[in-house]
Amino acid sequence: MAIRIEDQNLLFHLQTDHTSYIFQVMENGELGQVYYGKRVHSKSSYDNLTTREWHNASVALSLQQNDFQLQTIKQEYASLGKGDFRYPAYQVTQANGSRITEFKYESYELVDGKRRLAGLPSTFDDDNDDAQTLTISLRDKLLGLVLHLNYTIFPHQDVIIRSAEFQNQGNEKLTLNSAASAQLDLPDADYDFIQFSGAWSRERHMIRTHLRSGVQSISSLRGTSSHQQNPFMMLARPNTDDASGSVFGFNLVYSGNFADQIQVDQYDTSRVIVGINPAEFAWNLKPGDKFQTPEAVLSYTDAGMNQLSQQMGAFYQNHLVNQRFAHEERPTLINNWEATFMDFDENKLLDFAKTAKKLGLEMFVLDDGWFGHRNADNSSLGDWFVNQPKFPSGFDKFANQIHELGLKFGLWFEPEMISIDSELYKEHPDWLINAPGRHASPERRQFVLDMTRPEVVDYLFDAMSKIIDMTKLDYIKWDMNRNITETYSSKLSADDQLEMPHRYILGVYQLYDRLVKAYPDVLFESCSSGGGRFDLGMMYYAPQAWTSDDTDAVERMLIQFGTSYGYPQMMMGAHVSAVPNDQVGRITSLKTRANVAYFGDFGYELDITKMSSEEQQQVKEQTAFYNEHRKLFQFGKFYRIENPFKNGNVMSWEVVSDDKQHAIAARYQILNRPHTGYIRLYIKGLDPDTKYTVNGGSEQFYGDELMNAGLFVSDILHETHGTGQSADFNSKLFVIDAVK
Ligand code: DGJ
Repeated sequence: MAIRIEDQNLLFHLQTDHTSYIFQVMENGELGQVYYGKRVHSKSSYDNLTTREWHNASVALSLQQNDFQLQTIKQEYASLGKGDFRYPAYQVTQANGSRITEFKYESYELVDGKRRLAGLPSTFDDDNDDAQTLTISLRDKLLGLVLHLNYTIFPHQDVIIRSAEFQNQGNEKLTLNSAASAQLDLPDADYDFIQFSGAWSRERHMIRTHLRSGVQSISSLRGTSSHQQNPFMMLARPNTDDASGSVFGFNLVYSGNFADQIQVDQYDTSRVIVGINPAEFAWNLKPGDKFQTPEAVLSYTDAGMNQLSQQMGAFYQNHLVNQRFAHEERPTLINNWEATFMDFDENKLLDFAKTAKKLGLEMFVLDDGWFGHRNADNSSLGDWFVNQPKFPSGFDKFANQIHELGLKFGLWFEPEMISIDSELYKEHPDWLINAPGRHASPERRQFVLDMTRPEVVDYLFDAMSKIIDMTKLDYIKWDMNRNITETYSSKLSADDQLEMPHRYILGVYQLYDRLVKAYPDVLFESCSSGGGRFDLGMMYYAPQAWTSDDTDAVERMLIQFGTSYGYPQMMMGAHVSAVPNDQVGRITSLKTRANVAYFGDFGYELDITKMSSEEQQQVKEQTAFYNEHRKLFQFGKFYRIENPFKNGNVMSWEVVSDDKQHAIAARYQILNRPHTGYIRLYIKGLDPDTKYTVNGGSEQFYGDELMNAGLFVSDILHETHGTGQSADFNSKLFVIDAVK
């Protein structure tokens, strides 16, 4: 598989193991899209796919080329103003106010591998052994503006990476009003738009609607990718489900304001545009300046959504996340947040850590409240030095004691924030983001630091480094607990203020980059009030994220199920917390809470010191069970079986080892229903000819039997009846092992 170029026709065929992406230089010198989908044979031309036909009421290229009408043509990176009235991929304003551009093809460059982007998180192929990158150069002669469209194929994961770079080689200042990472024009609109939407504490619920005429979009203007909409989306044929059918996946390697848009036009074609949200964005390009967009990830399969998730997940593991941790089993942890909130001292925490060690956990994570004089959420953000009264013996000694127990030590930071009640604010009130003459709006009684200022990034790097060095830290939970308002930087000129949202996130990336490079062995977990920044930009630095502040087992099963479409389970932090649950007040069993949390980076977030000895024993057994199967849970092939967003009550999923020798499936029900028929669970991904046992039972099953005839699952009522346990919110786990 490779990128094939027909030099004569200037036709580019990007071929992966199972997909083809084809485009060509058009009659007007710009780039036209030919095809994206299941792999097709390579040819020197596809006249059938690029036939021009005259349409009434359409603007033409010229009097001679009357049948070349942009609004009927699929394009790679379209502009507005020359007869295509759909939303464009970009817009540039000249000094004279004109917004018309003509980017004509100039040349291409084809290289092996995939370079990382400077200053932005990006995909990579550091060993040059997998990817191929094609860059198409186009030029607008009038403006002296060069556009590079970058395409990288990762053939074995059927992934294509796209991005654009603008270079002002002319003499006048230009302004980029928008610059998408990718555009895709599909020839029809018979697709379901599948998005992952929600709110704080109920992130990434799956919503599936058929495309309709007009624009439909998901986006964020919160300064983060957001809890409300995730940048991952799919377009699937209506009959596509997890097991079969045709589906495109789109994601963005970006953590700030984004917009994913699909426009169905008058001819029922679909234009997909993904990238930085054009609202609240502009970028000034002085002569000599460049602008690089974030990268978009595109993938396609005709084998259903499980396959799409698996191929994109494998791709992220090998070509996006920090390779230091990409294949390393993540530690089981105890986090004190939901157990103590900010009410703790060193003795209480040490008790905690000792109990955690006794129960088999591997890392103690100290959450919010260890710094400044923070005992409530209205103070000390920015003061990254220890809260002395809570650690009278010294923080270095405390960290030492944790390490001496044989535990790793993790710490919470919220680097991007500032409290009014802080030393930092006294010294640098101007570092707080606010617009001139306006009052700064608080959220969670805190404010945001101007991350566009290099001195802020330097301060945070130094302050965090001191703590990392002092405590020999193993892990950082990097939180971000508010949206950005009064977006303005006193360091930027009036003319550059619309650059602020993007410059903010570039500052965040810079801090991450410096810390990750300076402390390569520190594992980062990103967090934004739970899942508010669960995106590929963050994952580049922090290979896992706190999936949601909602740790209720039922809510979590929905959140993790939705998240699993776009992100592999090794990216999802998943903890067992106390009941009644803090977010929804629901009571679920310790068993079900663990059965959900197993399918991610597992830990506990409750007061283990106050548990009964029976419960502690259960925690010990759960931890041992997870540790035994950790590789499978974190890195196994993930299959969704029953979709709770469809049936409203039942969910099942499964992880399978690469060699198909082991699998663990789980089935969960929200409410128990009376007098149900026989239940069968259709196991996935096994070897049809291998014999397996289930939960160590004596009966042996062929893989084809478990997959096609299914596994009998007894009614939960039979097990819970008379035991005092509830059959609601119940769950079952099936450990499936090949017979040796
Ligand atoms: C929000 C996070 O999601 C929680 O897990 C916790 O770290 C709190 N912030 C601390 O303020």
